[in-house]
Amino acid sequence: MSYLITIDGPTGSGKSTVSRLLAKRLNYSYLDTGAMYRVVGLAIQKAGIDLQDEEEVAKICNSLDIKFIHEGGSTKIYLAQEDVTEAIREPDIDLLASSVSTLHTVRKAMTRLQRKIGSQGPLVAEGRDMGTVVFPQAKHKFYLDASLEVRVSRRFQERQKKGESISREKVKKYLIKRDYQDMNRRLSPLRPARDAKIIDSTKLSPDQVVEEIIKEMKKDKN
Ligand code: DC
Repeated sequence: MSYLITIDGPTGSGKSTVSRLLAKRLNYSYLDTGAMYRVVGLAIQKAGIDLQDEEEVAKICNSLDIKFIHEGGSTKIYLAQEDVTEAIREPDIDLLASSVSTLHTVRKAMTRLQRKIGSQGPLVAEGRDMGTVVFPQAKHKFYLDASLEVRVSRRFQERQKKGESISREKVKKYLIKRDYQDMNRRLSPLRPARDAKIIDSTKLSPDQVVEEIIKEMKKDKN
């Protein structure tokens, strides 16, 4: 488990950017588990299934054909034959992914898949419950956080870059709602693992966070 690094944290804490950079730097694979919940949300939306219909949700999860294709510096995500890389980042999927992630059937299926991926080689696994539930035995655990205003600004800028016309206030409202749902659900709520190192990225660039992580990992070695 010394080749497993977990990075958890709330929306906009910078964990995706940092995890990707760290994986590249160490030549590890990178697993974006949020993308997996997003694909489940999209699949459920496409099939028109009610979230309360556990049997149908289970069918979707158990037959889910997700592929991560790493090309150059980016990752394409496929649901069966369809490239859903952009579709899973649509604003309505933000909340839907958070809602499907509260379901036991969904978490069970995703945890199984994530552990399988974790057994295949060195990995940076990023999400909400990597250090607490999926890989509790990982040697290197990190929890990234940042002030609410900075996290809102990061999300707002992302939306603006995509050409979406959404107000900062709305971005803030949705972010608070999603954080609340992710931190207060019954199953695997977002929280730092007891043995995770907490890093506040409010005033740090992604490269600075990566340096901090590498520094901490060297300490773990000694
Ligand atoms: O990291 P993200 O914003 O793409 O994640 C989308 C949602 O998926 C998030 O709101 C909660 C859920 N999620 C989870 O429950 N467990 C994880 N390990 C990763 C994401």
